[in-house]
Amino acid sequence: MGESGTEPRKTLSIRDNRTGKDYEVDIHEGDVVRAMDLRQIKVNDDDFGMMSYDPAFTNTASTRSTITEIDGGNGILRYRGYPIEQLAEKSSFLEVAYLLLRGELPSQDELDDFVHNVTYHTYAHENIIKLLRGFRYDAHTMGIVISSVAALSTFYPEAKEIHDPENRWIQIIRLVAKMPTLAAFAYRHHRGLPYVYPENELSYTANFLNMLFRIGVRDYRPNPVLERALDVLFILHADHEQNCSATTMRTIGSSHADPYSALAGGMAALYGPLHGGANEAVLRMLTEIGSKDNIPDFMESVRNGDRRLMGFGHRVYKAYDPRASIIKKTAHEVFEVTGNNPLLEIALELEKIALQEEYFVKRNLYPNVDFYSGLIYQAMGFPVEMFPVLFAIPRTVGWLAQWEEMLEDKEQKIARPRQVYVGEGERDYIPVDRRG
Ligand code: SDX
Repeated sequence: MGESGTEPRKTLSIRDNRTGKDYEVDIHEGDVVRAMDLRQIKVNDDDFGMMSYDPAFTNTASTRSTITEIDGGNGILRYRGYPIEQLAEKSSFLEVAYLLLRGELPSQDELDDFVHNVTYHTYAHENIIKLLRGFRYDAHTMGIVISSVAALSTFYPEAKEIHDPENRWIQIIRLVAKMPTLAAFAYRHHRGLPYVYPENELSYTANFLNMLFRIGVRDYRPNPVLERALDVLFILHADHEQNCSATTMRTIGSSHADPYSALAGGMAALYGPLHGGANEAVLRMLTEIGSKDNIPDFMESVRNGDRRLMGFGHRVYKAYDPRASIIKKTAHEVFEVTGNNPLLEIALELEKIALQEEYFVKRNLYPNVDFYSGLIYQAMGFPVEMFPVLFAIPRTVGWLAQWEEMLEDKEQKIARPRQVYVGEGERDYIPVDRRG
């Protein structure tokens, strides 16, 4: 209560000591102030006004969202209010996809209809296959899939009608359905194997595993433990609020580009080793360490700042990434079937050291979603080049949910940040024969 017993005003009082002027700025829901409210702060009336400066947006909310909630301090992750632990245990990836895209868990009829629609859109145009055949045999699969998704925009020109909700939904169904097909075709190309086409009687992840790994048998049925493990991994990777790739998807979408082009951009952002490419970087790091005996030297190089402990740290989580805990449990279930991954003991030793050592504890460096997932993928037979692709398939749902929320948000418009210019002042052109 304020001094007079009334509710305290929800404002910031700002004094500009350059002018002695006082300003009142409203504090809005979520404990935020609007950056535009700073523009009234000026020295001279014809000044542009004050801006906020926030490289990498470390303390800037770009949107109000109802999709995913993260409490980084307490390691909490919820999709539309449902805890990730409950969804991973009780739901399926396509049910979670419906939840993220539509905002509510589906009825049985709604789920059946959604699964049917996705199942019957898994084929990709045959010309896509001609595009894939143009890549070198050793092309990175993430580069192939990014190109293929962008190419899909040329097969569905009507996707530019982004203000038509029914049209958007058809494109969303196509992308959710075709990502596993494009990923599997990229993998088969990488391996020099003939492509295996979708089989409609299989589940989403069983169909994906079938397109990837069926060789020389008529009926391929993946081990149900691996089918379920991949479904859980897809649930865990489906969305994560305003991460780098979701922000990219929203930014490209804000210019009203079609969803295929926007999603190719989101995938490109995910590809980076600081983001979704970290799962591949973790496996390369564990392989490079090679044995527990080499861990002390490696950790020294991390403490010196020469290397990063890939799979550790997070911009938002300052506690254990809840997804990493579930993945670690899933890893043991997978290894029961595939046999242990010898790199697991190196990973566990790195985690043990990091959770105890000052350097990591001080920087809140806990395992994130990428630290253990690669161990599972490798044990399931995926090459490291497929790891970012395995992140992109489920994240397609999150990107599309974020994209659609942006389009329907009346406050949003084309993204165009400001800058603080610190370059040269005006100067005259110098002919080349007089340059120093
Ligand atoms: C994902 O945003 C999301 O939600 C992403 C994601 C999703 O689902 O979409 O969760 C998926 O991208 C997970 C993160 C995967 N990336 C990695 O595992 C790569 C290794 N981790 C990092 O490079 C880093 O932790 C980031 C990129 C994840 C976060 O970086 P921040 O928030 O910008 O932190 P920072 O780089 O400013 O680091 C703060 C300090 C620095 O030390 P000082 O300068 O203070 O001395 O911590 C250090 C960093 O050097 N640090 C690390 C480290 N991560 C941060 N030091 C060693 N190893 C690391 N992994």
